[in-house]
Amino acid sequence: MTRLIFLGPPGAGKGTQAKVLADLGQIPHISTGDILRAAVSAQTALGIKAKNFMDQGELVPDDLVVDLIQERLSQPDAQPGWILDGFPRNVVQAQALDDLLTTMQQGYDRVINLDVPDEIIVQRMLSRGRQDDNEETIRRRLEVYREQTEPLIDFYDQRHKLTTINGAQPMTAVTAALADLI
Ligand code: AP5
Repeated sequence: MTRLIFLGPPGAGKGTQAKVLADLGQIPHISTGDILRAAVSAQTALGIKAKNFMDQGELVPDDLVVDLIQERLSQPDAQPGWILDGFPRNVVQAQALDDLLTTMQQGYDRVINLDVPDEIIVQRMLSRGRQDDNEETIRRRLEVYREQTEPLIDFYDQRHKLTTINGAQPMTAVTAALADLI
């Protein structure tokens, strides 16, 4: 499988596992969070627009993120395949991705939902200590996940594309479960 989408709450291990699989498959790991954080550090126009949303645990506006993904998926290294991490984040983005892939005459093979209970997520993020890993922002990111991103589990399940994996296991066990799947 060469086109995968990772779903899951903040801190579920999407980035950790997506990197491993992307290295194995020699395809790009495309994380909207990483791209946005790089834009914030470089103080680009995108980064300046995104910073406050990210600091508050809110989603960056859909049009900015959809443009970013459209540009990234059109690059030569993404033609053999990709792993999307952190996109799509709501139904509007999922529909925009469907439209974009139809235009590009591509599709996706599987959507992987990493399932992790809230108490483990909070512990993981507090011990990581990223700029948006403080208690207040973590709480808001979890709310935004429940309100906007969790509905994508049904969205992709109805399309028979969803596989849920227990992300609360040790990292190597999660990787092994993913390797079995793909
Ligand atoms: P983003 O960067 O996507 O953050 P997130 O979804 O909150 O996810 P995280 O990066 O926190 O977690 P992860 O699941 O990747 O876990 P990780 O592998 O790092 O988004 C940040 C912000 O950008 C958003 O709030 C929003 O503002 C904006 N944004 C991004 N995409 C957007 C979009 N599409 N639309 C609009 N706005 C967008 O692991 C977490 C920690 O746990 C690490 O320390 C790791 O070492 C550890 N860990 C991982 N797996 C395990 C394990 N199995 N056991 C023990 N520890 C583990």
